[in-house]
Amino acid sequence: MNVLIIGSGGREHALAWKLAQSTLLGRLYIAPGNAGTSMHGENVNLDTDNYAALKDFVLSKAVGMLVVGPEAPLVNGIHDFFKADPELADVMVIGPLKEAAMLEGSKDFAKEFMMKYNIPTASYATFNADELDEGLAYLKTVNPPYVLKADGLAAGKGVLIIGNREEAEAELTAMLRDAKFGAASSKVVIEEFLSGIEISCFVLTDGRSYKILPSAKDYKRIGEGDTGLNTGGMGSVSPVPFADAEFMQKVEHGIIAPTVRGLIDEGLEYKGFIFFGLINVEGEPFVIEYNVRMGDPEAESVIPRIKSDLLKLFIGVGNGTLDKEQVETDPRYATAIMLVSGGYPGDYDKGKIVDGLDEVEGSIIFHAGTKADDDGNVVTNGGRVIAVTSFSDSLEDALRQSYVNASAISFEGKYYRRDLGADLKE
Ligand code: AMP
Ligand code: GLY
Repeated sequence: MNVLIIGSGGREHALAWKLAQSTLLGRLYIAPGNAGTSMHGENVNLDTDNYAALKDFVLSKAVGMLVVGPEAPLVNGIHDFFKADPELADVMVIGPLKEAAMLEGSKDFAKEFMMKYNIPTASYATFNADELDEGLAYLKTVNPPYVLKADGLAAGKGVLIIGNREEAEAELTAMLRDAKFGAASSKVVIEEFLSGIEISCFVLTDGRSYKILPSAKDYKRIGEGDTGLNTGGMGSVSPVPFADAEFMQKVEHGIIAPTVRGLIDEGLEYKGFIFFGLINVEGEPFVIEYNVRMGDPEAESVIPRIKSDLLKLFIGVGNGTLDKEQVETDPRYATAIMLVSGGYPGDYDKGKIVDGLDEVEGSIIFHAGTKADDDGNVVTNGGRVIAVTSFSDSLEDALRQSYVNASAISFEGKYYRRDLGADLKE
């Protein structure tokens, strides 16, 4: 089977690395990919938003499966395009149809869905631009901190957590009246603040049955001790020690199973990953958000722990026979440390030469923002540059191994957090 992966980050490198190990794989293409994905397949310079060009490519290369890494193409309906075109309808697409992708594409849609199917989540109310006064009045009725969420996709920046009411009122006004996040904030969800520790859980579903994948914790803030600005993620650890059998039982029965059942009841066609962003409030899991894709940097610790053939699982998703498949996981810890460009998540330079990759031993390197320059050097090409993933029976040893190799790799301005996993050690 020839496969085309869409995306260019560490998640897509992890997917390419894993799919390349499958005996079922024919040719692997990644659009656009990075300097790491090109070790496992062919990077292609293809504008995947241009459906006519995408169709030509898929037909000319006899691509049998499209694996969509990020959410935006799914929310924009890439799967629907394939399904509706008779020449493409047989191509398996890993990722939900547009309507189901609303679980990530609209916070209000996701909240309504959770309410309808009794899935635990923070209490909330939604306001549109004509309801600013009602929204401001609502803020007076809830306790701080105030959680304001732009309804639509806002590149991870649409959630504001604000300590005082005057500021929350100003932000709500900016979002609803002044379109602070453009069309994404034409509706705003105001949500109860939940206090606890976050965890990312993942399933693969064919729309009928599901398989639970390893869970992970990611580290969103730039600074040690979870301080400073939010990033795309500074690393991840899998498994998560507090997600024991009892907790995961609650997640499966209270959250995963009702979500998949709800999708079926609503007639929402879903084939792909569901990412449950959860918060553990005194032992009880609540949903903070749904994503319709794998996490990044969670993929860089979760995917290596899947021992089964991922392409075989994807084919089960495509054929609707996932219930016949088994997911075997590596019991060891996997830790992914993200090396980022100096200045990230603010402004940063690109094009810095990355050295030391050949010296890495005992870890897996997943490229995120890298590319090969004209002289064949690997150079930085984004904020998040490289993830260093290591395995061990103990969390401490896996982290130690990742940190040894994180320091062996060099590029001007390199930064990484040195405290990953510290919050999980017993
Ligand atoms: P999201 O973009 O939905 O992932 O939200 C970004 C981050 O905001 C989450 O990872 C949480 O850390 C935080 N967050 C979102 N909703 C809540 C909530 N209701 N209570 C506390 N923290 C929240
Ligand atoms: N690591 C969080 C995300 O992928 O959205």
